Amino acid sequence: CGIVAYVGHREACPIIIKGLKRLEYRGYDSAGIALMTHELSVYKKKGKVSELEAFIKNLPINSNIGIGHTRWATHGEPNDVNAHPHYSSNKELAIIHNGIIENYASLKTELESRGHVFLSETDSEVFIHLIEDVKQNNDCSLDEAVRLALSMVVGAYAIVVMSNNDKEMLIAARKGSPLVIGIGKKEFFLASDASPIIEYTNDVVYLNDYEIAIINKGELTIKNINAVTQTPYIQTLDLELDQIEKGGYPHFMLKEIFEQPKSIKDSMRGRVNASLGHLQLGGILQYANKLTNAERIIIVACGTSWHAGLVAEYLFEDIARIPVEVEYASEFRYRNPIIREGDVVIAISQSGETADTLAAIELAKSKGAVIFGVCNVVGSSISRASHEGAYLHAGPEIGVASTKAFTAQVSVLAMMAIIVGNKKGTITESQYIALLTELETIPQKVEKALKSNDQIVEIAEQFKDAKNFLYLGRGYNFPVALEGALKLKEISYIHAEGYPAAEMKHGPIALIDAEMPVCVIAPQDNSYEKIVSNIQEVRARKGRVIAVVTEGDTHIKNMAEYTIEVPATHEALMPLLTVIPLQLLSYHIAVMRGCNVDQPRNLAKSVTVE
Ligand code: G6P
Repeated sequence: CGIVAYVGHREACPIIIKGLKRLEYRGYDSAGIALMTHELSVYKKKGKVSELEAFIKNLPINSNIGIGHTRWATHGEPNDVNAHPHYSSNKELAIIHNGIIENYASLKTELESRGHVFLSETDSEVFIHLIEDVKQNNDCSLDEAVRLALSMVVGAYAIVVMSNNDKEMLIAARKGSPLVIGIGKKEFFLASDASPIIEYTNDVVYLNDYEIAIINKGELTIKNINAVTQTPYIQTLDLELDQIEKGGYPHFMLKEIFEQPKSIKDSMRGRVNASLGHLQLGGILQYANKLTNAERIIIVACGTSWHAGLVAEYLFEDIARIPVEVEYASEFRYRNPIIREGDVVIAISQSGETADTLAAIELAKSKGAVIFGVCNVVGSSISRASHEGAYLHAGPEIGVASTKAFTAQVSVLAMMAIIVGNKKGTITESQYIALLTELETIPQKVEKALKSNDQIVEIAEQFKDAKNFLYLGRGYNFPVALEGALKLKEISYIHAEGYPAAEMKHGPIALIDAEMPVCVIAPQDNSYEKIVSNIQEVRARKGRVIAVVTEGDTHIKNMAEYTIEVPATHEALMPLLTVIPLQLLSYHIAVMRGCNVDQPRNLAKSVTVE
């Protein structure tokens, strides 16, 4: 979910609506806003923020204070009632909440026994009733009531509370879900990330876990959960408005796909210099030896980041000769995993906020592991929870389906593996220089790979009505097959599976008939001959082959129905090129099917619930 709040001298509603639109990537099944008209008034609507906007258009909603929310449903279906904000029973208070209250059922029963009546099925409504109840029973101030209530809830939250009695006051708190406070001149902006804020101010405070922010009459006070006042740490953000706008592209996803030559270059800027034989990640210093001497690397991640982790498994094993295990963060954390002395953990996350990944880190830390974070969002929870790490510097990624973050992740992970391989001597000096030289050429090769866009539009036209898709790859390109399939299913709702090409014969081959598109990633690498055989196996069953091949490959051209070329590169860096046509293919198919590419159904970009 995404939350936005404002208090100051401007009209709150337009700021909040615009901010919610920027946060829609976090969820978009319902939206709502609370404003101080003659009294505290809540307006909410199922659907996108634009529906809420239309709903309130002609209402008298002038207010200099307000809170707003765009929801990704956890408890209770997406409808008007379950949308946020939620009132307390006397309607004196309203709350917006991102996260999950795990003990909400017992709290609810208890509150019901004391006469509270709930309108929605959400855990968040329980939260505001709890605050109200605590306030009445203790006859205390609102911030004190929030603080006491927080100590009674189990789970994750970022909340903002508004009160009918204190018309210039907002109270916010966080544990596990992000919350940024933008500081203007006698005005404050609160949001789940900085994108709704940067238009107005670059000065922000990231609230820490177990902190409460009290904004009252133009003053900000931060207290910890023990009521001790904290000194806010104000940071100046280096983020420009045009980075979070579409810049002439019809969708953020397409913009982000085409941004990749730049975002990959940015991920390497100041880090790689082949002519000097230089490669350094400034964020990995103190614990660099731990990484070099690691006996095992455990990678934790979710979704596309997990696929980047799989590429890293090949990179670290191949280049640095360190055994790697790649774990879904959600499975790792509930499995009583074994972490030994000499193990290091790499956590990969675009947003740096994924709840499962964050929890996996906390668990690994409690068992003594050193954590390296590979995140895109600067200052995010995972980057702060890690001991050290490397940022992607890919710029904000807004399309829900991850594209440029994936290539920046692979690029950063490749740099990490090459640094370690060089230090350990598991690659020779000439191999080291060759890898650096090749890394530097990747942005222009990606630029070239993007030139197949028009051809991919034609291919998409042919396959847009397919019911299924199979993606096959081997070695470094097996994770790319998984990523290609994920992209397609996420945004076009076509069922797609990614498989190691050799595994096809153990099952998926049964699906192949004349209707079945099979996308084969077949560059000229070590497994070229093998994958050519796999293409033959598909052809023998009349499957329709779309092959991603190395520039100039005529052999596969004679076998496949379509071939898409990418420039040649080092095998270890090939995923950075082969993934590009697959991103474009899924994009164009989704557009042709009329799908909402940037905001696919049921998904959210940043999943801050487990
Ligand atoms: C969500 C997004 C995916 C993303 C995954 C992990 O499911 O829709 O695009 O790969 O979360 O997110 P992270 O921010 O941790 O990389």
